[in-house]
Order: sequence, then structure tokens, then C-alpha cells
Amino acid sequence: MDVRLAIVILAAGKSTRFHSKKSKLLHTICGQTVIEWVLDAVLPLEPHQVILVHGPHNEAELHDALGDDYSDGEITVPLTYALQHPALGTAHALLQAEPVLAEGTTDIIVLPGDAPLIDDETLRMLFEARDAAGAEHSVLTALMEDPTGYGRILHDGDPENGIIEAIVEEADATEEQRYINEVNSGMYLFSVRVFEQLRKAAESIGKSSVKGEYYLPDIVKMAPTASCMTEDYVSISGINDREQLAWAEQEVLTALRRSWMQAGVTFRMPETVYMHADVKLDEDVEIGPNCVLLNGAEVGRGTVIGPGCVLDNANIGENCTLMHVRALDCDVDDNVTIGPYVNLRPGTHLQDNVKVGNFVETKNAVIGTGSKLPHLQYVGDAELGENVNIGAGTIFCNYDGVNKHRISIGNNVFVGSNSSLQAPLTIGEGAYVAMGSAVTKDVPQDALAVGRARQENKEGYAARLREKAQRLKEQRAMEREREAGEAGGKS
Ligand code: UD1
Ligand code: CA
Repeated sequence: MDVRLAIVILAAGKSTRFHSKKSKLLHTICGQTVIEWVLDAVLPLEPHQVILVHGPHNEAELHDALGDDYSDGEITVPLTYALQHPALGTAHALLQAEPVLAEGTTDIIVLPGDAPLIDDETLRMLFEARDAAGAEHSVLTALMEDPTGYGRILHDGDPENGIIEAIVEEADATEEQRYINEVNSGMYLFSVRVFEQLRKAAESIGKSSVKGEYYLPDIVKMAPTASCMTEDYVSISGINDREQLAWAEQEVLTALRRSWMQAGVTFRMPETVYMHADVKLDEDVEIGPNCVLLNGAEVGRGTVIGPGCVLDNANIGENCTLMHVRALDCDVDDNVTIGPYVNLRPGTHLQDNVKVGNFVETKNAVIGTGSKLPHLQYVGDAELGENVNIGAGTIFCNYDGVNKHRISIGNNVFVGSNSSLQAPLTIGEGAYVAMGSAVTKDVPQDALAVGRARQENKEGYAARLREKAQRLKEQRAMEREREAGEAGGKS
């Protein structure tokens, strides 16, 4: 019979140890929520349905975050929501999925919502283990150095035959059983008969006397269940607090950096680079120390980033050099040199061969091919043509306190240092602006704009000022002496 697979993700827990207003499943690891990492692991199995079992406390936030289907661009799977209320344990949680289960389902993989490091390869092993043991169900297990908190796997004589005798929860385990370090991952492959068996288990086994919950692992007493041991305990690890979240993120980061290195990216100090899972790097990209790559940042071949760059949804072309640059929501073409200490704000577009250096801020600005912003500029709401040179300290005054206006600068314009350009403004092709100008009127093509008071030299004036000051000082000193003399006379 063909397998028709449904996935049930148990997520009705309360995230108590996270001390957070939002569900721990919506906290992120490398830019992607915990629950999305779980969904990414199951998509390659091509399930026809994913059911999320939630509580009343997180129904709205999960639904808002995930919507009605999930896709990785290639595979799309519908998401179904099932309410568990009250939360009477993991067996009860799975039973809540039965009424919404799609018709024709033959198999069900059950996963906790909070184990984001699981992958499709590991889950596929569940099918092999079940078939090899001729069992009805299978459970993913692993050897844990410290098994505290996990259910322990008890084998029926030979652990190699794969059939599990019982799974004992930590709370119910004897001292001896607590030494067992093969643990239950909480990840299972069930045949669809599991629902019927769980109802029977509820009658015959009932709730745990210790925790008062219906235990899903009790299924092993109802039908032959194979253990499927993974050597990779990391892949089954759950995150219950922020320390484990940080640990999981380090695991993901290490794997991400490793896979980019294998794809031809050089990292000078890999452990100092933080990155999201959705960044894209070409071959021969080099990432220096202390860089942060976020929200789909892309870097083209031969580009050197760092030290100290933050690229957030920035698209950087080929053979560029960036040092101490923050680039947010912007585009950079090829052979561009940026930094140090540059803030490229949203809407910046640097075209080929542009140079931006030393304490420059840009926003909503297109800088044409070969143009230069070498030192200390603010360039906002502007279009610059090709080969424009903007002098040090020039400010684009784009804001009049109410509205933002634009500045347009033609090809080959030269703006002298320390000028202020008041928007709205157009400077024609080939024009010059004299340094120190406050430019308030459009400048025609090839004109020279001088927007400052003409310098005047007053001969000898400084010397006269100095003499006057000296005379005043002497007068004051004499007055103070006289006052001191009078005061002394009185005593
Ligand atoms: C469970 C297993 C344990 C296993 C461990 C792996 C049981 C009884 N024990 O223990 O053998 O080693 O996972 O992490 O299953 N949930 C619900 N509704 C409930 C209770 C739980 O949806 O009524 C969800 C939780 O949100 C969580 C998952 O089920 O995602 C596991 O529940 P949790 O309470 O964390 O079980 P553990 O004590 O960790
Ligand atoms: Ca848990």
C-alpha cells in the first residue's frame, strides 16, 4: 500500500521556562522561527498534511505567523490547526489531531514543536527501522551523556532486535532505570491505527499516577514498536529555555558556515560571523572577522566583506570591498569600494566602480557609475549621474522640517568641500560648485555656482583689536588692585 503521510506537531505546551510573552516556537534561530525549522525538516518527506496541535494560549499567534500552508518554494503543504484543551498529556494531544486528519492517511510522523535541529534524513530512518523489525510503529532514540528529563528506552531482552518493551518517564523511573542513557526523542512514526490503540491505552493504562497525564510513549505497550537510534543526539535536542536556544543557534551557525566554506567562501575568523540561514554567497567571497549577514543578504563573487560589516537585506555585487560598513535594504553593483565607517540606509543604490569612504551616510540615493563620495557626506533623496565628485563634508539638505525633497546631479559634476545643497535642486551636467557654498538655486549645465559671501580683508584690523583687548585687561587689573587696597583699609 502507498504511504500517505501526515505530520502532527505537538505544540500545546506553555513555554514556561522561556519566560516570554510569545510562544517559544516563534523565537528565531538564524532568522527563522523554531517551528519553521521543524517544518523545513518535514517538507522533503512530502507529507500531504501538517497538523499543529496547539493550546488556546498560542492558537492566534501560531496561525498569524504561519498561515494556512507552508512552502519552501518548491514543496507546499497545507497546515491544519487542532486545539487541545485542556492539555492532558502527549497521548491526549495526538488524539486531538484525529478529527482533522485527511482521509486516506496511512502513516503519521509525530514531532515536538520545539526540536528545531531535526532533519529529513534522520526522519527517513524511522521507516527503515520499522520495516526491518516488522513493527507497527517506530520511535527515534539516541544515547545521551546526560539523559535527565527524557523518557528512557527499555528493551525486551535483545536491544538489537529493535522492539521496545517500555518507555519510562523520568518522573516514574526507578533509580536503576535512570542510569539508562538511550532516550526517547519524542519523535515517532505511527501507522494510522495509533488512534484506536491510544483510546485502548487510555482505558487499560490510564493516566500517569505521578504526572496525571496520558503518555504517548505508552503506545509501545499496545503494539510492537521499533527503536530507531540516531548517532546524532544534536538532531533530536529540544529547546526549553534561552540557553538551549543559544546552543541550538550555535549548532546551526556552525553548520551554515561549514556549508558555505564547502561552497567556496573564505572565512577569516568563522566563529565571529553571525548569519541568517537565507543569505546567499557566491564562490570566492571572503568574509573577514566580526561580520553579520541578515535577512537574505547576497554577496557576489570576489567580494571581500569585513572586518566589521553588517549586511541586512543588502545585495552586494562582484569584486567589491567593504570595510566597517552597515548596509540596510540596498543594492551595490560591481567593483565598488565602501568604507571604513559607512552607513548605507534603505533605498541606496551604488552603481559600478563607485567609491564611498570614511564616515558617509546615504539614504534613498542612486549614485551613478564611477562617482565618488570620499569623506564625511550625507547624501539623501538624490540621484547622482556618472563620475560625480562630492567634496568632503557636503550635506544634502533634503528635509525642510515638513517634507523631503529630491536633489538631482548630472554627470561629471564637481561639488567643492563643505557645501550644503538645499532640495529641491538640480545641478546640470558638468557644473562646478565652489567649496563652502550654500546652494539654494538650480545650477545650469557647465556653470560655476558660488553660494557664499565674498571674502574681504581689512588691513591692520586684527592688530588694532589685539591692542584694544590689551588695554582693557590692564584697566581691569588696576581696578582690582584699588578695590583690594580699600578693603584692607577697613579691617
Ligand atoms: C516527552 C516524552 C519523553 C521524551 C521527551 C523528548 C511524554 C510523556 N514524554 O517528555 O519520553 O523523552 O518528550 O523531548 O510524551 N504537549 C502537548 N500537549 C500536552 C503535553 C505536551 O501538545 O498535553 C507537547 C509539548 O508542547 C511539547 C511535546 O508535546 O512540544 C512534548 O511535551 P513535554 O511536556 O515537553 O514532554 P516531556 O516531558 O519533554
Ligand atoms: Ca520537552
